[in-house]
Amino acid sequence: MSSRIALHHADFLEGVDRIADGAVDLAIVDPPYGLGKDYGNDSDCIAAHEYLDFSKRWIDALLPKLAADGSLYVFLTWQHSPEVFSYLKTHLHMINEIIWDRRVPSMGGSTRKFSSVHDTIGFFARSRRYHFDIDSIRIAYDPETKKARSRSIFVGKKWLEIGYNPKDVWSVARLHRQDPERVDHPTQKPLALIERMVRASCPSGGLVLDPFMGSGTTAVAAARLGRRFAGFEINPDYLATARQRLEPAVPGADPAPAQDAQELKEAAI
Ligand SMILES: C[S@@+](CC[C@H](N)C(=O)[O-])C[C@H]1O[C@@H](n2cnc3c(N)ncnc32)[C@H](O)[C@@H]1O
Repeated sequence: MSSRIALHHADFLEGVDRIADGAVDLAIVDPPYGLGKDYGNDSDCIAAHEYLDFSKRWIDALLPKLAADGSLYVFLTWQHSPEVFSYLKTHLHMINEIIWDRRVPSMGGSTRKFSSVHDTIGFFARSRRYHFDIDSIRIAYDPETKKARSRSIFVGKKWLEIGYNPKDVWSVARLHRQDPERVDHPTQKPLALIERMVRASCPSGGLVLDPFMGSGTTAVAAARLGRRFAGFEINPDYLATARQRLEPAVPGADPAPAQDAQELKEAAI
């Protein structure tokens, strides 16, 4: 495996000092949610009243590792995002709250409340001068939309040619069992989501850190996009899965987005 990709079989809190202070351009954090998921360990058995303390532990360990213009994305549920965001805001600038609409089909669902079909993703930066490459994540207008904007005020507008910038609602289907991307991990994230974060928020050749690596989605995104990577995972089976997934990834390549632009749906207004 490339020395640019380091997969650590270790508890993040114990292994974090393998990373130099200020070295991380981008942290993508997908922690246990406290929903009792089975990761082959009891790491997701976190009582609601303990979730903030759990989060403070990884946040306090991670913050010194972020570069001065570094960023952090964190996946959370709506149950805990308010208090975790509040804590993060005492240390970092909050740039966005991104809603990941998992495109859950309508099939019954909750009858005493609205069915929850999204994850909340917090996007934070260490300083206001954070790295953000908007051109790498623009979405091309389809011919129909371009035509609809053919009035003279739009003619020659650069953004019509280069595409629009993504909004803060990302509509990407969760990975179904039959999806070719799917491996054996209960909360594997779609590559399309993670690649957008890496393209936007990590310079080419920069270092991406994933403290709760799972099946290695962030590692694969980093390798495909020519970024360095360091990740931690306590379950050795998931580490093996991550290694397997990395085999076909071509370090240094800049591949086509993981899913086509139609899949990463956003309403062009
Ligand atoms: C939400 S999942 C990450 C899923 C991942 N983003 C993917 O796409 O596969 C969280 C993972 O963190 C691991 N984990 C839990 N506590 C950990 C710790 N202290 N250090 C490292 N890994 C941990 C779990 O075993 C689980 O695989």
